[in-house]
Amino acid sequence: MRQMRLRRLILLQVACALGLTAYLNLVKTSVERKTLQKAVRTDGNVGFGGKWSPPGRNLSSTSEKVAILVPFRDREEHLDIFLRHMHPFLQRQGIDYVIYVIEQHGGEPMFCKGLLYNVGYTEALKDDPTYDCFILHDVDLLPEDDRNLYTCSKSPLHLSVAIDKFDYNLPYTDLFGGVSAITKSHYRLLNGYSNLFCGWGGEDDDMSLRLKRHMLEISRPEKDVARYKMLPHNHTKENPQRYILLRHWLARAMTDGLKSLHTAGYNVTSTSHRELYTHILVNISKRGGEVYHPW
Ligand code: BGC
Ligand code: MN
Repeated sequence: MRQMRLRRLILLQVACALGLTAYLNLVKTSVERKTLQKAVRTDGNVGFGGKWSPPGRNLSSTSEKVAILVPFRDREEHLDIFLRHMHPFLQRQGIDYVIYVIEQHGGEPMFCKGLLYNVGYTEALKDDPTYDCFILHDVDLLPEDDRNLYTCSKSPLHLSVAIDKFDYNLPYTDLFGGVSAITKSHYRLLNGYSNLFCGWGGEDDDMSLRLKRHMLEISRPEKDVARYKMLPHNHTKENPQRYILLRHWLARAMTDGLKSLHTAGYNVTSTSHRELYTHILVNISKRGGEVYHPW
């Protein structure tokens, strides 16, 4: 009799222990799920391909659609910081946007930023022809102030006015590099960027001259708003040909750009929708050493 009672007691204890373990597991899973949801929420529920629209936006909405173009090569550590900074920033501003990362690979050792912008512009419009506004963005610049709005206006906008690296001062009035915003129609009117600048420097100065030619004045937000932090990096390979290319900017302006993209020596290897951005991989073959001579 006593043995029976003892056995029943043991069985009861085992059942209790099993129940308790099951309960604890349930609690643990639900806590894990909540943590996971929180982590996703801090990324602002970004859609695949790095897309986001303000809540409540519907198909008939008239709000501007913005493509953020980021030329890229060998800067994984910057890209990660950039994306984690930019998604919450753009969402706080209520922008309807997609981030495109245009990555260069292939035989050309120099970074051809202007060409990558032109490819990004063209491919983004294939992806969605309804973009109104393009933000041209260096991967190493992080906006510091939410009032620096990532939208387009009647004049092309230069947004990176005050960068910490330049003691928050604009280096020169015609500067258009760093971060800029330009409408789809202006980009087309200007024939995009030159495809010929490979290596650091000059492609933005060439674009600035194109703006002048079309009497498009550069607008800028206030200096205390348009503030940026530049991520540190080793100096990149300069383009020794930039001065000679710039001297003959006018002779190239009409042809060298969007209009000559089909002969620019590139092809799009792949387009894929990644978790936080749309990735456009571009193969650029090695160029000859000679400077382009239109004269
Ligand atoms: C280069 C530009 C660059 C600027 C600011 C100029 O000398 O030509 O491409 O954006 O310096 O760094
Ligand atoms: Mn830089």
